[in-house]
Order: sequence, then structure tokens, then C-alpha cells
Amino acid sequence: MKDKIIVTGGCGYIGSHTVIELLESDFEVVILDDLSNSSEATISRIKKITGISPIFIEIDLKDARATHKVFSDHKDAKGVIHFAAYKAVGESVQEPIKYYKNNLFSLLNTLEAQVYNGIENFIFSSSATVYGMPNTLPITENNKTQRPFSTYGNTKKIAEEILEDYTRSNKVFSVISLRYFNPIGAHSSGEIGELPNGIPNNLMPYITQTAAGIREKLMVYGNDYPTKDGTPIRDYIHVVDLAKAHVLAVKRLLNKEQEMALEIFNLGTGVGYSVMDVIKTFETVTGVKLNYEVTSRRDGDVPELYASINLAKEKLGWSAKKALDDMINSSWIWEQNFQNETNVISKSLSGSDSLK
Ligand code: UFG
Repeated sequence: MKDKIIVTGGCGYIGSHTVIELLESDFEVVILDDLSNSSEATISRIKKITGISPIFIEIDLKDARATHKVFSDHKDAKGVIHFAAYKAVGESVQEPIKYYKNNLFSLLNTLEAQVYNGIENFIFSSSATVYGMPNTLPITENNKTQRPFSTYGNTKKIAEEILEDYTRSNKVFSVISLRYFNPIGAHSSGEIGELPNGIPNNLMPYITQTAAGIREKLMVYGNDYPTKDGTPIRDYIHVVDLAKAHVLAVKRLLNKEQEMALEIFNLGTGVGYSVMDVIKTFETVTGVKLNYEVTSRRDGDVPELYASINLAKEKLGWSAKKALDDMINSSWIWEQNFQNETNVISKSLSGSDSLK
């Protein structure tokens, strides 16, 4: 019998890559997703890559009754990985209630439903944004958290506080919260990758869409930061490396190896690259010249952020393997594949239109 894992938001960017790693590590997977920022086509892509079709249930986790029903149907699951959340930083500042409602109601309903059905293990998709403006680098998990600038970030911080309270009150419930730095890259098959809704907030999809001619120009938000070239430094991590860390976290919980009811791990490479490093590496790796312009700083951006990765190495036995070149190259291959497919579909649609 395979161990069953419920993955909320399993059709999304990090969720879908994690589902692949879980399937390839011999877990059974049930995906719960409302498809608000993803597509059901991801399921067939996962099948194409792994040869296995995960169970897929379209559900809005804000609906407590529906959530309870699904968890009672899958009470044999051994754990839950909770990705389902809205994640657009800019939109979250414009529409805070939408973000608090979605990200926190979904979390609370999931927790309640899983514990009611005796599922004791939970992995949370958190973010380095909970560190706010760090005073020391690299950031260890012991760094004090601060109120993040964005509502999106604050939902992650509040969620971790909810999990802290929940593990304190419920002695059998075990949680690992994974704080991601800057996930980029795509699966080596070129079948799945990041697909932001509308205009991307994040650097990498903005770069690939500019290179593909969808955006006219990349705006570099400030080159007057106290860094080597004046542009902000981040810890970019390949999404497949990130996905593998989730599998190790699941195994740690299932094998009852955790040392505290709530454990927190940074997931990064420990190496920081500036925005200009990323642009230059993109141009070198792909041979495509990028149209960019330096503009003013973006509100809420910190100058420098990179992880201390020792804890994840020691406790999860995990470290990132893929270099920046690979992250960028795979993002670019995915973008090109996606654009080619979109063109084929729109050509065939306009073809059928003309037949009418
Ligand atoms: N940037 C640009 N132009 C763009 C987009 C980004 O210059 O069009 C710059 C930003 O100013 C920043 C760097 O590229 O210096 C990285 O920006 P991203 O938006 O890609 O990533 P952030 O570090 O701002 O945010 C990421 C995740 C958030 C998470 C945060 C934690 O996207 O979900 O890290 O620090 F909350």
C-alpha cells in the first residue's frame, strides 16, 4: 500500500512540481485545487511525465462543508501539503480582504477537516517574506520574524502563528513549515512551469515574457541599493530542488523523526544573486538580448535576502543541487514551449472560426 498524501493547490507552480516528486517517490497523491490560478491540464501533464494520474478534486477550501466531505472521503491519507493560496504580492496590497479570506479560511478549514479525520501530519508552504527586513545575513530560522510589507506576506506570517497555537493545543498534530526564498525554474520535461495570471510580479516570469515578446520591457526596480551593482540580491532556488525538499519533509513526519511539533526550515541555496546577475546570466545562457530599463525602487523590496541552509541540510538531509544557469534555462524552455502551444491553439481556433 502506498502512503497517500493530500496536496492542496497541487495544480499550481510549486504544487505540481511537488506532486511529480511525490509520485516518483512512490506516494499516492490526491490533489485539491479550485483552479483559480491554475489549469486542470496540469493533471494530464503530470501523467505524461510520471505515467501516473493523480486523483484530482476541484474544490474551494473556503467551503468548510465541502472540505470536510473530501477529507472524510480520504481519511486514510497520511499527511497534507498545503500550497493552496493566493500569491500576487501587489494584488494582495490592493485587495487585503480577498487575501486574508482566501488564504486563512482555506488554512483553517483544511486544519479542522484533517484533524477531525485523524490526519496528523501537515506541511505548510511558507515564505522568506516572514523575515521582513533582516538585520543579519544569511538568515537563519532563528531570526525574528517581522510583519511583512504585503498582505500576502502577512497571511504567511499569521498562518505560521496559527500553526504554532494549533500544535501547542493538539499534541498529536505535527507540522513542518517550509520558508521558500525565490523559487524559479521549471521541470526538465518542459511540460510544467510557472504560469502567472496577468502581468507577472516576479522577476523571472517577467524576464521570460519580455524575451518572448509578450512584454515590451523589463523594469529594473532600483540600482541604488547598497549591493555590489546597486540592484537587490535574492536567493533564487530551482523549483524542482524545492519540490524534493517537500518529499523529504513528508518522510520526516511519517517516520516520526521531527524533534518539535512545529519545525521550520529555510529552503534556499544560501547564495545570493543580484537582479543584474540574473539578467546577464539569462542573456548568456539563452543568447537572447533583454530589453530592460532601470526605474525607481519598488515599495517593500529589501536590499538583500539569502538563506542559511544548514538546518535543512542537517535535519532533512536536503540541499539544493541546481545552479542559476539551469534555473534560468529551464524557465526559458518552459516559456517557449508554452508560447508555441498557445500559438498553435489560437491558430487552430481562428482556423475553425473562419470555417463557420
Ligand atoms: N524585480 C525587478 N523587476 C520586476 C520584478 C522584480 O527589478 O519586474 C526585482 C525586485 O525588485 C527584486 C527582485 O527582482 O529585487 C526579485 O523580485 P521578485 O518579485 O521576483 O521576488 P521578491 O523577492 O520580491 O518576492 C519573493 C516571492 C514572494 C515572497 C518574497 C519573500 O515572490 O512570494 O520573495 O522575500 F514573499
